Amino acid sequence: MWDVLEEFYDSVPRPGSHVEDHGELVLFVQAGDGYPYYARPRFPGGRPVLADVVRMRERQRELGVPEAFEWVHETTPDLLGIAVSAGLEVLRAPLMVLDPERLPRPHPHVRVLATRPAEVAVVAELAFSSPGTAPGQAGVAERDAALAGAVPASTRHRHAVADLPGEGVLAVGTAQRAGDVVEIAGVGTLPVARRRGLGGAVTAALARDALERGATLVFLSAGSTEIARVYERVGFRHAGTACIASPAE
Ligand SMILES: CC(C)(COP(=O)(O)OP(=O)(O)OC[C@H]1O[C@@H](n2cnc3c(N)ncnc32)[C@H](O)[C@@H]1OP(=O)(O)O)[C@@H](O)C(=O)NCCC(=O)NCCS
Repeated sequence: MWDVLEEFYDSVPRPGSHVEDHGELVLFVQAGDGYPYYARPRFPGGRPVLADVVRMRERQRELGVPEAFEWVHETTPDLLGIAVSAGLEVLRAPLMVLDPERLPRPHPHVRVLATRPAEVAVVAELAFSSPGTAPGQAGVAERDAALAGAVPASTRHRHAVADLPGEGVLAVGTAQRAGDVVEIAGVGTLPVARRRGLGGAVTAALARDALERGATLVFLSAGSTEIARVYERVGFRHAGTACIASPAE
């Protein structure tokens, strides 16, 4: 499974980015103005050393892109200590894999789309502005105000929306595919609509859709162990650790 995941991580950013090889690391630089990418170990078998990380940070600063690194701990275990000694802070995110037989029944108001309606970016941005799983104030009024200037975007991915009668889109998520592997990301629920099962439901809908379309491995990285519980409830199990590094404050 780790080899399959490495290949996925190496191939999924390529269509939308410019790729630079630097020793044992590869840098993906987002070509458009979307989410900026990161550096990761060269595929296959990259074994970065401290000098690789230091040089890569210089290059990232030179390009004006984030000094961001991502890798799977089980595949490249030495990089954790190296990144810390290079002055990076490393988030160890639970890497979770779907057990297909544990998927819950579909939610009646969640649908999966091959287009990206404006709500996907707007709801995700409001959700990620209130990190963690606690409910909060931001809700439908904030969403609708932000939607006034928003436009649908073209997409290479699949998107799920929880679109409740009389309330509109309250939760969203995205699935990206490379080969037979699908990663679910960008799952977010408006703070006011949390703890109603919607984050779990959009995740489950994307996972079911991926299986129906022939995926053999569906996975995600949870932002914390608390968030991982949301995914456990809909059939994902903790399989490893995704490391996400950025400069320490
Ligand atoms: C993480 C996030 C998507 C969860 O969304 P959500 O819609 O609240 O998720 P769910 O309702 O499915 O689950 C959240 C909790 O509500 C509980 N819950 C689910 N249905 C419920 C219901 N009908 N009534 C009461 N509680 C319920 C779940 O058991 C879970 O409890 P737990 O945290 O104690 O395990 C949301 O908090 C969020 O947008 N956070 C910020 C962005 C983010 O971090 N996204 C994830 C990146 S990996």
